[in-house]
Amino acid sequence: MTKIKFGYKDIDELDKPEEVNNVFTSVSNKYDVMNDIMSFGLHRLWKKQFIRLCNIKSQKKVLDIACGTGDIALELIKKNPSIELTCLDPNTEMIEICKEKFINKGITNVDYQIKGIEEYKPEGKKFDLITVTFGFRNFTNHKIALQNIIKLLETGGLFLIMDFKKPRNQLYSKLFKFYTLNIIPNIGKLIAKDESSYRYLAESIQTYYSPDEIRDMLIKAGFSKIEIVNLPEDVASIHIGRKV
Ligand SMILES: C[S@@+](CC[C@H](N)C(=O)[O-])C[C@H]1O[C@@H](n2cnc3c(N)ncnc32)[C@H](O)[C@@H]1O
Repeated sequence: MTKIKFGYKDIDELDKPEEVNNVFTSVSNKYDVMNDIMSFGLHRLWKKQFIRLCNIKSQKKVLDIACGTGDIALELIKKNPSIELTCLDPNTEMIEICKEKFINKGITNVDYQIKGIEEYKPEGKKFDLITVTFGFRNFTNHKIALQNIIKLLETGGLFLIMDFKKPRNQLYSKLFKFYTLNIIPNIGKLIAKDESSYRYLAESIQTYYSPDEIRDMLIKAGFSKIEIVNLPEDVASIHIGRKV
């Protein structure tokens, strides 16, 4: 059995999808409000910057992986209503909230896929743009996921990942670690009545790959012209990869 990280715990790789799924089922109804509280609203600015880099006006077929409650997917289709959009997430509760937001906005032409990216193999379908925000960390097998993503991308297509990172300054990094490991689980306990899920989310930030490691993984999977954009607060970054 291959052991992998689930926060600070080492678990069997086969158990990770269910463990992660339990976390998102538990946090789903407080997910949006918790994001605002935990990031002091900054995730909205980061997502705006991410959307700007997607070059959405010239995209046709778009896949948002780990769409969660739909923040990115909704912005993308609002900015270019002519895209063919697929929203993928293995968690039923998260994707139901996403669906409801789309329906409330009168957007019905979206393909919802309830599965992990490692299992998504649509017959003859490829995408010009593939995005994943704050989801890469939760994947079970990053190598298989990236191999699949590059197959799903059209030649000339764009792949963007946004996720947390540790700050480069050592003192700031220590403060950020203290905040994630000690404050976030307590906010989770207070607001979402769920300390352990937020402990996992905080620990998964600390055990996550560095931006350079992600760049190397992208190169190994066959992506080219990789760019890394550090967001101003230095706690999250965006990777852009291309299929040439
Ligand atoms: C932190 S949420 C991110 C939601 C949204 N993208 C955002 O930026 O707010 C992470 C999402 O990743 C999804 N996820 C977990 N494992 C996954 C996998 N193997 N493939 C695709 N999505 C996955 C979870 O179900 C969850 O909804």
